[in-house]
Amino acid sequence: MKTDEVRNKYLRFFEKRGHSIIKSASLIPKNDTTTLFTSSGMQPLLSYFLGKKHISGTRLANSQKCFRAEDIEEIGDNRHTTFFEMLGNWSFGDYFKKEQIEQFFKFLTTEIKLEPKKLYITVFVGDKKNKIPRDIESVKIWKNIFENNKIKAEDIEILDEENGGKIGMRGGRIFYYNAKYNWWSRAGAPDKMPSDEPGGADSEVFYDFGEDIHNKKFGEHCHPNCKCGRFIEIGNSVFIEYIKQKDGSFSRLPMKNVDFGGGLERITAASNSDNDIFNIDTISFVIKKIEEISGRMYADNKKEFRIIADHIRASVFIIASGIMSSNTGQGYILRRLIRRVIRFSDKLDILHGHLSDISKTVINQYNKIYSELNENKEKITEEINKEERRFRKTLEKGLIEFEKISKRRNISGNDAFILFTTYGFPIEMTIELAEEKGLSVDKNEFNKKMKEHRELSRIGAEQKFKGGLIDTGEMSVKYHTATHLLLRALKDVLGESVRQKGSNITSERLRLDFSWGEKMTDEQKQNTEDLVNEKIKSAIDVKKEEIPAKEVARQNIGGEFEDKYGDIITVYKIGNYSIELCGGPHIKNTAELGHFKIKKEESVSSGIRRIKAVLE
Ligand code: ALA
Repeated sequence: MKTDEVRNKYLRFFEKRGHSIIKSASLIPKNDTTTLFTSSGMQPLLSYFLGKKHISGTRLANSQKCFRAEDIEEIGDNRHTTFFEMLGNWSFGDYFKKEQIEQFFKFLTTEIKLEPKKLYITVFVGDKKNKIPRDIESVKIWKNIFENNKIKAEDIEILDEENGGKIGMRGGRIFYYNAKYNWWSRAGAPDKMPSDEPGGADSEVFYDFGEDIHNKKFGEHCHPNCKCGRFIEIGNSVFIEYIKQKDGSFSRLPMKNVDFGGGLERITAASNSDNDIFNIDTISFVIKKIEEISGRMYADNKKEFRIIADHIRASVFIIASGIMSSNTGQGYILRRLIRRVIRFSDKLDILHGHLSDISKTVINQYNKIYSELNENKEKITEEINKEERRFRKTLEKGLIEFEKISKRRNISGNDAFILFTTYGFPIEMTIELAEEKGLSVDKNEFNKKMKEHRELSRIGAEQKFKGGLIDTGEMSVKYHTATHLLLRALKDVLGESVRQKGSNITSERLRLDFSWGEKMTDEQKQNTEDLVNEKIKSAIDVKKEEIPAKEVARQNIGGEFEDKYGDIITVYKIGNYSIELCGGPHIKNTAELGHFKIKKEESVSSGIRRIKAVLE
């Protein structure tokens, strides 16, 4: 089957069962600082598991764009990609285990036509310490299903990979694993969850691509969570019914919810009984393009091809969501992806400047479903070309420098720091290069150097802002405070990824430049304006505080600012609403501002927007 066909079948199947189909949310999370990117379908829906009512009802489904940065270094095997589409269906206090398990089995076997005997199941073994019971309910439901299909369904306790490798499957069909494998929350296992985080036991379905794939290098015996590639997880039904309390105990949520997620690319691969997901239609076109421009064959260079195909595909979607390469946050992840592609494309002797051709193939594969790709086509190819040119300027010299250092010794933190600041080598790339030579990198020392470096530039920026407000007349000071409110409101409306990129204040207006990839909608502008006016009306006190830099880090202001020994930093707080590193001056209370109005919202350069606003 083709990817579009599987996506379509899934959405229609759930639509027929009373689900509202919602759009994929942006890859950049809004009001959620737990991850840099949206990494599962439930993330944008968190509040609905806790009781908030969704306007489209209690049953939803979609295909969500996801990106998992923690998998960057995993790419190269048959089944991992950093970017993927997650097919999702949700029940907010509506159906629970029985209906979910039965409908997913039905979807797989009737719509995708997978053979029931190739499906293997995992469930949660329970957690005595946290008083969470073993999931015998799901086991009963699964047993029934298999028995109705004339398949023997024994349940076996495996617990973890080590034990699985030792004992094997023993003819079982349903396997109990511990919380590392069969519990889901945004933070992982129960003990890793912070308070107020919801989560629950889950039941995963694995597709068996054939016994002969198992390689003893991964364990004497194979089992669903073995890493050999024989089994691939194609869906996860999470039963979100718990919430962690402040005292560390778990209590039940007021309602029982279902959060299902299944990798679209993996289900498509299963439909074709081919365990290499790089062979599905949407990705194989990208692989063919790489063959064309490199003159090499995929079969002989799988790892390099997979890294290039995966990272370019992810970069296309990331750029289309408004992110540009930079040295922090999401922009740094994008930079890492593109720079890693460049290094691996050199291994295939791909001529310089051809990576953006690969991105065009990705855009063609997806533009019918994701119109933002075509809309941003030029931006995407330009950004990839620009980043390639930037990196090429220093790459060769950097590699020579790396060779020199690595001949003499392991890589010190200072070496890695120089490779980063002078030659643009992301630390992960230095580590990868070092590993290829069997050398180590002192990452702790590198991080220390980076912290010092960032602090110095932040302090520099603060000084500049102080100097920037030359005119300290009454109106300019008002506009200065309004700028802080505006920046905070933009983060509330557009998401925490918004960063200030510049500011210019006169006695007539304020001007704020900020990172954002697209034109703001009228609704977003209105919401921003309303928020600022609401805060003005609330008459909030503005307070200057001098606090140790350490405290700045603890309160998560700007995020990158950490323990510079004993330095005192000035921050301005507008109640609990806004806190900014700033030298001032500011007014005493927001009530002094009058009425705030956005006059213009426009583009300054790629990825940067500008708002001009006045106080009336
Ligand atoms: N949220 C669940 C996952 O990501 C479905 O696996």
